[in-house]
Amino acid sequence: MAPPTASDDIAPEDVIFDTKRVVPVSVIKLASEATGLPPQFVKSERERPTVAYDDYCREIPVISLKGVETESRRKGIVAEIGRACAEWGIFQIVDHGVPEELMKNLMDKNLAFFKLPQEDKLKYATKPEGYPEAFGYATGSHRADDDVLDWREFMLHSCLPKNVHETAYSFWPKKPEGYRDTLVEYSDKIDGLVTLLLGLISESLGLPTDYIKNAVGGEDTEQKILFNYYPHCPQPDLTLGHRSHTDFGTITLLQQIEVGGLQAYKKETDRWVTVEPISGAFVVNLADQLQILSNGKYRSVLHQAVVNSNQTRQSIVTFANPSSMSQMGPVPELLNEANPAKYPSYIFKDYLRLFRSNVLVVPDGSAG
Ligand code: OGA
Ligand code: NI
Repeated sequence: MAPPTASDDIAPEDVIFDTKRVVPVSVIKLASEATGLPPQFVKSERERPTVAYDDYCREIPVISLKGVETESRRKGIVAEIGRACAEWGIFQIVDHGVPEELMKNLMDKNLAFFKLPQEDKLKYATKPEGYPEAFGYATGSHRADDDVLDWREFMLHSCLPKNVHETAYSFWPKKPEGYRDTLVEYSDKIDGLVTLLLGLISESLGLPTDYIKNAVGGEDTEQKILFNYYPHCPQPDLTLGHRSHTDFGTITLLQQIEVGGLQAYKKETDRWVTVEPISGAFVVNLADQLQILSNGKYRSVLHQAVVNSNQTRQSIVTFANPSSMSQMGPVPELLNEANPAKYPSYIFKDYLRLFRSNVLVVPDGSAG
């Protein structure tokens, strides 16, 4: 990719589009001023957090990928991943090969971006027409018609495939210095890690290594990278940083700073569990399409982020999603009389359309 040039600058009027709706407030400003939680962030009692941001669950699997290239070690890793996908739908990986220095550099860019004056961030404001396709800076959630907001600011980038990437590139912030180059490098490394993980997951289902990667579009697989910024909150018990949801794509990799907040729902115990931040690790969570491809053997885990009153929290989330024309549905090779298809087959873009219009009942993490 060509290095950024002055022509990559975008005029604010091109991108600010009814910012009242997608950037209704600066959550960072509210965090610095408000003594109580503003009413538009107060969640219903049913949605409020029940487990503390730092009450860590140590049972969530942590899997080392060290030696994955050797046949003997790979077998063990595949088995561990298969168990984690079926029992949890969420796990952490270490020794994954993405340099810690790069992870830290990008987290620094995340922090520096959100610290910019609001006018600078508004140059990249999200257009409201399009969750889940909306890119850019927003606060609360992607949905423009929300009654109750989430306590967060975020910046979403379209990164892959490369042709989309190049068009979307002009929408990436130029400030702070080095932002774009670091994101390109990170995007590349994570793409390799996603391919490796999809290979291990395919093997754990008894499929050829490249099966899932090909099923979700091969080189046309989409990648989006999201920066989340959760300011400290005056009344964290009444709200959420990120409402409960499953991710709609294939698989999600999350990097977080050393402040907890990510929680997954464990249906066996009917409890939310908090993921412990591990320096240099990625949290991997399976998304809807993997639950469907695996015919429900693996689960798309319901998750959310809680906030706290002392510290700001940041995460960087990479979504690997099928290409829009991918044919999705349970993998035929996994089906038989004892295991009939639990889901229909469809083209991924139709799933997105239904998902966006709220007609679709997405998997609720209750598989397995
Ligand atoms: C997401 C997400 C959780 C977090 O962005 O989809 O689940 O802890 N984020 O930031
Ligand atoms: Ni998520």
